Amino acid sequence: MKFDKDISLIQQKMSETSIGIARRQNILKELNIEGGQTIIDVGCGGGQLVEAISLGVGVNGKAIGVDPSETQIVSAKDRCQSFENTEFLCCYADEIDMDDASCDSITSTQTLEYIEDVDAALNEIRRLLKNHSRFVNISTLWDYFGFHGPDKELNSLMHEVVKGQKHPMLPTKLNGKLEKLGFKNIRTHEIPFFITKRDENSFAKFHEVNMVNAAIKKGISEDQVDLWRKQLHQAEQEGSFAFTTIAIMTTGYINQ
Ligand SMILES: C[S@@+](CC[C@H](N)C(=O)[O-])C[C@H]1O[C@@H](n2cnc3c(N)ncnc32)[C@H](O)[C@@H]1O
Repeated sequence: MKFDKDISLIQQKMSETSIGIARRQNILKELNIEGGQTIIDVGCGGGQLVEAISLGVGVNGKAIGVDPSETQIVSAKDRCQSFENTEFLCCYADEIDMDDASCDSITSTQTLEYIEDVDAALNEIRRLLKNHSRFVNISTLWDYFGFHGPDKELNSLMHEVVKGQKHPMLPTKLNGKLEKLGFKNIRTHEIPFFITKRDENSFAKFHEVNMVNAAIKKGISEDQVDLWRKQLHQAEQEGSFAFTTIAIMTTGYINQ
């Protein structure tokens, strides 16, 4: 899935919501950052997490954002322009131009599931990690993601249009992949959300807008899209609206 300008801008808004903030808080706690460290965020998007990491690693450290989307990198650089300890690489996760064992931690949020050759990306992450360092990943369980609209057929049609993930249930396989690469102390932690209001700045609302745009682009009629939205609105009025998402944070540690 290509994060072009329109998708990138909506994605950055999603990242600013309470759900985006909660995910970053979980990652920052798990990273347990020390001053002077070098930390990469793979698939950094608009750079919200890189900004937070840069504050943690301080002036002697480095917070590095990696993303192949030029739109995302431009936004991330803009956000972090006053932090001299940030750096951005516009490249894919499996071609990061840095030395072996040069990072104290690597993190990634809702990115690996979009990468066809996820094993190549994980190999690259392993190559870059020092001994006694950690990898912290958050990926969504996409089979459990979405709106619970009353018209099941129309509702699933609207979800089909955004199914761009190559590995929709990645967390169910990630432990084994990390184990094969020599990671130790592999742990998982679930971060579930159940949203019952479509307020303007909610994660659900931005996903609704994203799905509407994708549906129109893919040729679903405006009448059907409007009907789906009306059904969600009505469900909200009746107190039967629900949007659910479950993200899994997976942590692995290198100890050779
Ligand atoms: C859903 S967004 C998440 C952005 C950010 N991590 C966040 O949580 O706000 C996924 C990001 O992965 C990036 N991406 C897609 N394919 C990638 C790849 N092969 N290597 C690295 N990043 C990739 C996209 O450009 C996009 O910015």
